Amino acid sequence: MFNLFKKKEQLPQTDFSAVKADMHSHLIPGIDDGAPNLEASILLLQKMQALAFEKVITTPHIMADYYRNTPEIILSGLDKLREEAIKQQLTIKIDAAAEYYLDETFVSKLQKQKLLTLGQDYLLFELSFVNYPQNLFDVIFEIQAKGYKPVLAHPERYPYFAGEMENYSRIKNAGCLLQLNTISLTGHYGKNVQKTAEDLVDHYLVDFIGTDMHHPGHAQLLQKALTLPYVHRLATDYQLLNPLLA
Ligand SMILES: [Fe+2]
Repeated sequence: MFNLFKKKEQLPQTDFSAVKADMHSHLIPGIDDGAPNLEASILLLQKMQALAFEKVITTPHIMADYYRNTPEIILSGLDKLREEAIKQQLTIKIDAAAEYYLDETFVSKLQKQKLLTLGQDYLLFELSFVNYPQNLFDVIFEIQAKGYKPVLAHPERYPYFAGEMENYSRIKNAGCLLQLNTISLTGHYGKNVQKTAEDLVDHYLVDFIGTDMHHPGHAQLLQKALTLPYVHRLATDYQLLNPLLA
């Protein structure tokens, strides 16, 4: 006999304390599509601290068409943010790197400049959401040839990889690490993205998780995400590299 009142399995309450460091967010004021001003940045930092992150490495977009950020712009924004965080008595540690968009300028930047990295040598980059980048594997090779470790941002969100785990294994086998957006597991970007995200977790293809925090709505989703078995597992029992960046 089925039981209408069967108790739903309850997960013990958790937070992101075991993950320690978040490594993908847009918290520097006014330089991309994340926090528009310092007040908004501080609010987002408070939310990150409340989610129990010990440290954030925030990653403004660097994109030739929309956000022509440079290491100087990002690092001077970081100084302002740190200064205000101290005034507001926040204890969370703050660092900055970048989310590099694979456009025609990226390879030349890679050749000519020192790029911003997560920790010593992890380089976060993202792809077009529309067109498959024909040079993807060349770029992955080139990034490594320059001494960086490539980390692909939110692989679950690129429709041309469309849930085929084989595509992701090929990328990993080329030496590129994968960073899942935690809120992809809530269905925030649609059911297909959610399913791909779940498959990536199940196949142990995820190396880092990131909040990709742009605004307070994302913080709410992260809080909600912690009640999901997939996120619970990532936050408590999964071999993530995030803690290495703390
Ligand atoms: Fe991002």
